[in-house]
Amino acid sequence: MKGLILSGGKGTRLRPLTHTRAKQLVPIANKANIDYCVEDIVRAGVTDIGIIISPETGEEVKAYLGDGSRLGAKITYILQDRPGGLAHAVKIAQPYLENDPFIMYLGDNLLDGGIQHMLEKFNKGGVEACILLTKVPNPSSFGVAVRDPSGKIVRLVEKPKEYISDLALVGVYLFTPKIHEIIANLKPSARGELEITEAIQNLLEAGFVVNAEEVRGYWKDTGNAADLLDANRLVLSRIEREISGTVENSEIVGEVQIASGASIKNSRLRGPISIAAGAVVENAYVGPYTSIGENAIVKDCELEYSILMQGSRLEGIARRVDSSILGEEVRVLGEVERKNTVQFFLGDRSTVKI
Ligand code: TTP
Repeated sequence: MKGLILSGGKGTRLRPLTHTRAKQLVPIANKANIDYCVEDIVRAGVTDIGIIISPETGEEVKAYLGDGSRLGAKITYILQDRPGGLAHAVKIAQPYLENDPFIMYLGDNLLDGGIQHMLEKFNKGGVEACILLTKVPNPSSFGVAVRDPSGKIVRLVEKPKEYISDLALVGVYLFTPKIHEIIANLKPSARGELEITEAIQNLLEAGFVVNAEEVRGYWKDTGNAADLLDANRLVLSRIEREISGTVENSEIVGEVQIASGASIKNSRLRGPISIAAGAVVENAYVGPYTSIGENAIVKDCELEYSILMQGSRLEGIARRVDSSILGEEVRVLGEVERKNTVQFFLGDRSTVKI
């Protein structure tokens, strides 16, 4: 069995961050989204992993993951020259996948319960695909699955205009090589992409069995800002207290991780919080569900429910900073006078002066 992680795409929903970085490398609790995907696949016992990359962000993904040995994987990169759709990615990966069954994992998805339960059933045989489902409040934004009363998958529809089911397909799929025959006959959809939902529907129509499992724990597509903050919250809600950095004259409550080389001074911290190596927090309040990246600086301000990436700096802001994402090397500088709340969504290397 092989793994296939999709790390190409356009990332339009996460602009401006994705102007300068691959969305799959955006940190969640100070670890790139794609790390969680690789870890899930390796944990399921699969170490040969192909990664789909785009011409725009491929080099960055390669530089970050390398040969995969850091995560116990053997990574092969597969260049997709344009974002032709999820099934297009499978099509161009076929020479790598050969005749092996494979796990397809979207690189901007985050799963809490892993994929082992899916794999165990799939490996018993008799099915050509296994999909992962979760109930969503807005099914018209997803590919959805319709089951018969016995639970059998009978139909899949991409972004249905009228309600047919609230069970959305989540970004993890298992396939036998049969899917390649189906994709070979697939035509581009109205949006010009080869759709994986349509390929699986065609498998069903050809009389093959598609199995489905439901998500265990949480699932998140981190493709937009609100979901990214929520993913950060979910991962942080599972961390445990671990303080390796230096702490001086500060009050730290709850599950807070402070990496060695980070420094906290005259501050109040209310976990869960992740603070990476080299970060400095001084004369500050940092509230729950906040991740502070490597060498970032938080000084003379209040910060909560936010992600600060590597090297960003937040200093002297009068109002509490809430629900904000600061890209790499972003600087937000202001005066110290705490009042209401402000909100930022800033790409890498922005500067804001208040
Ligand atoms: P999407 O989030 O569906 O698409 P996108 O990356 O183009 O983002 P947006 O809608 O914000 O413009 O893609 C899901 C995952 O699959 C993501 O990790 C990117 C990846 N992908 C590819 O690798 N190749 C593709 O052709 C497409 C469409 C997506």
